[in-house]
Amino acid sequence: MSSLPKQVKIVEVGPRDGLQNERENVPAEIKIELVNRLTTAGFQNIEAAAFVSPKWVPQMATSAEVMAAIKRKPGVIYSALTPNMQGFEAALAAKADEVVIFGSASEAFSQKNINCSIAESIARFEGVAKAAKENGIRLRGSISCAFGCPYQGEVPLDAVADVVGRMRDLGCDEIDIADTIGVATPRKTQAVMERAIREFRVDGLSGHFHDTYGQALANIYASLEVGIAIYHSSVSGLGGCPYAKGATGNVATEDVLYMMQGLGIETGIDLDIVVDAGQFISQFLNRKGASRAGNAIAAKRAA
Ligand code: HMG
Ligand code: MG
Repeated sequence: MSSLPKQVKIVEVGPRDGLQNERENVPAEIKIELVNRLTTAGFQNIEAAAFVSPKWVPQMATSAEVMAAIKRKPGVIYSALTPNMQGFEAALAAKADEVVIFGSASEAFSQKNINCSIAESIARFEGVAKAAKENGIRLRGSISCAFGCPYQGEVPLDAVADVVGRMRDLGCDEIDIADTIGVATPRKTQAVMERAIREFRVDGLSGHFHDTYGQALANIYASLEVGIAIYHSSVSGLGGCPYAKGATGNVATEDVLYMMQGLGIETGIDLDIVVDAGQFISQFLNRKGASRAGNAIAAKRAA
């Protein structure tokens, strides 16, 4: 059996990737409370905001208010999405610790999500990347549809490798390989990750899996086997993507933590506090949480 990483970093993306897709308006104070609870749980990195056009993604319009009011723990990275210089200026003013440029391995998805081609997006990101470096802010690159696209279907490995290389050349500290619509299966996941590893340091690559087809945990395990040690997840499995119809939320953080505990892999995160945070946001949204482990732990407590 291949040896798995002894510890992993879990990036909690619920406050951004999760909530961006909620129909119901989630007021800033609820988001702030959620981020504070997640900070208490021990995450090293929380994606808390997106400085994008409020016409495109209305749910993220309160990002500045959220960033201003959260209780920050020293050393924790609070990240924000920044598609262009306007977004970067807002993230800088909001004291984001990390800015995220987000491109796609699929031409069709790039047009739908950020209204430009892959090449145009990279040109736009150059300014953001340069400004991030000048201001000493961490830079992360996120690559959507690395395993399949809702508009063009198959995405060639070379297309993923090409964008990973471009993100690397822009100076990204970390690069996310994202399954936006949750279509990957374990062998496919390993093929994509192994191709990405040829272009970028393995310890700088992360797996961002949506759970649409119920494959996310299996894909994380498959990624562990090839050495990936950073994973994105959303508390209570919140979310989706407004430009990927039918895509469900990210893999649930509670499920990932439960699996890591069972595998003896350290995360530094308190699962019980995450379960509480999941119950908190699910109650606000007036529905049962989408984390199987979260619901099981909550039910056991109540028994
Ligand atoms: P555009 O319409 O081509 O841009 O949108 P524009 O430059 O022509 O500007 C149009 C209007 O937007 C102007 O306002 C700008 O001021 C405003 P108007 O003059 O009409 O009143 N604007 C902005 N406002 C606030 N912040 C900004 C900003 N930029 C322009 N930064 C744009 C281009 C990129 C802005 C738009 O397409 C956009 O905001 N897209 C966001 C899409 C998005 O957030 N998608 C979800 C996140 S990605 C994701 O979830 C995937 C990920 O999870 C990984 C995975 O799972 O795949 C990361
Ligand atoms: Mg996503």
